[in-house]
Amino acid sequence: MAEQREQSELEGLIIPNHVAIIMDGNGRWAKKRGLPRNMGHRAGAEALKEVLESCVEFGIKELTVYAFSTENWRRPPDEVHHLMLLLDYFIDRELNRLHKQGVRIRHIGREEGVDERRLKKIHEAVEKTCHNHRLVLNVAFNYGGRAEIVDAVRKIVEEGIPVEDITEESISRRLYTYPTPDPDLIIRTGGEFRLSNFLIWQASYAEIYSTEVFWPNFGRTDLLAAVRVFNERERRYGGLHSSPA
Ligand code: FPP
Repeated sequence: MAEQREQSELEGLIIPNHVAIIMDGNGRWAKKRGLPRNMGHRAGAEALKEVLESCVEFGIKELTVYAFSTENWRRPPDEVHHLMLLLDYFIDRELNRLHKQGVRIRHIGREEGVDERRLKKIHEAVEKTCHNHRLVLNVAFNYGGRAEIVDAVRKIVEEGIPVEDITEESISRRLYTYPTPDPDLIIRTGGEFRLSNFLIWQASYAEIYSTEVFWPNFGRTDLLAAVRVFNERERRYGGLHSSPA
């Protein structure tokens, strides 16, 4: 019965292929409850589990989450340490389940600066799930949009690409996200309207949805609300019609 109701909620909706999320508001969620910020992050990891399941249910094919930015190193050492442990814990606890669900894990971000053991764990998760097709989960970890563009330019120079061959396509192919298509919908929780260095190249034609809901409170109903708003938007890609070509 509940399943039928859930199915009918999705009927007729265009499901975005790629959804990207700025999971903001963990600290404020915790503060409101008189809890340390780290508890907010922990609750945020739980919210991610629910949202992943909803993405699979909705038929979303790619989900990119902003887990740790190149700027997040500036946070107090204790918070940084906790976020690192949370990633380890998330992989340890969730990897088998995600693998069974058909989730492919990818890492986007710089490897430089990440602890060797953690990197090994990330590589193992990526390897183990590399043949899964149901949902691609891109984890933006030690990620910065500007750093990503800098790294793409460096690759172009290193490869000796001639100037006339430098195109939007040749840059896109060298971004961490390649071959993931650009996001259709970017969700930011916690009420702000900034991209905060997240997918700044790829966001060119994405629909942006901001909600006041703090990330730990974000769940299936909120994702559905975002998809409904996405359905109300008319995407013209700079032209007159709703098609990128
Ligand atoms: C922003 O909230 C959130 C982060 C910097 C970390 C996001 C991490 C998680 C949701 C943990 C789960 C992720 C993985 C991959 C295990 P904030 O701390 O800036 O919140 P505030 O604006 O209320 O202070």
